[in-house]
Amino acid sequence: MTGEDTARKGIILAGGQNTRLYPVTLAVSKQLLPVYDKPMIYYPLSVLMLAGIREICVITTPRDRAQFENTLGDGSQWGVRLSYLTQPSPDGLAQAYLLAEEFLAGSPSALVLGDNLFFGQGLQQMLAAADARDPGGTVFGYRAADPRRYGVLDFDAQGRARGIVEKPEHPPSDYAVTGLYFLDGSAPGRARQIRPSARGELEITDLLQLYLDDGLLTVETLGRGHAWFDVGTPSALLDAGNFVRTLEARQGLQIGCLEEIAHARGWIDADRLRAQARIFAHNDYGAYLEGLLR
Ligand code: TTP
Repeated sequence: MTGEDTARKGIILAGGQNTRLYPVTLAVSKQLLPVYDKPMIYYPLSVLMLAGIREICVITTPRDRAQFENTLGDGSQWGVRLSYLTQPSPDGLAQAYLLAEEFLAGSPSALVLGDNLFFGQGLQQMLAAADARDPGGTVFGYRAADPRRYGVLDFDAQGRARGIVEKPEHPPSDYAVTGLYFLDGSAPGRARQIRPSARGELEITDLLQLYLDDGLLTVETLGRGHAWFDVGTPSALLDAGNFVRTLEARQGLQIGCLEEIAHARGWIDADRLRAQARIFAHNDYGAYLEGLLR
């Protein structure tokens, strides 16, 4: 790998309490549950890889760290470098930047929530554009039927974002901020400026507001052709699984296949891909990897 010092680094935030999925998550982390044919965390990891990011830190709870390491390893099977950190308690999304400050070492970053799934034509180009924006940051807005559960964008008369309101009773727009944040190297320093909210969390919305106030935040909206799931409830888990199953069955193309992305980018060679296919021999995933070799 070259140019590592300035290359954007990735963070997957995969901790949290996962209480909405109790009792399922009493024993296993939400982000390791299957979304149809893969562990949930494959999907956000695939987004970082599609953005060209190869140095990635996975933040988990102390309880679940070993299971994540067993599942994902050091990332070399996908030509990336994975490292692991723990968040002692779920004190907010913005805390990720404090925990990962040493890992980031001044680099720009892309933080993705471990339970977020993105799909849509042109996603890679949007990710490339976000990667190229430095200094500054990029977030992605998505029209939500009920935006009250999310951070919601507030636009001015010219359609420019001027604020983000966390879980508002009366949403200023229908656009939720999705769980994918491209921020420049100043994110940890800015995260140190914010204070816990009334619910005791370091809110990502407060961090993003600092960028907005400085005129440094770009908001991209994902249009009708995009799907975004945050998989926090049993219904959402089923919906996301059915979505993946339907698309994969109709097109014969995988969503979130890490080997495919790595091979397409030249991060793993045919031998490595073949070795992965052998691990999954006798199932559709292995057959798909075999197919990529032909
Ligand atoms: P949430 O959906 O806010 O929380 P949660 O998943 O723990 O769920 P629940 O409401 O069921 O108790 O978090 C969004 C994602 O961010 C999720 O993947 C968990 C993760 N997270 C952390 O890793 N650390 C944190 O401090 C918080 C708040 C969330």
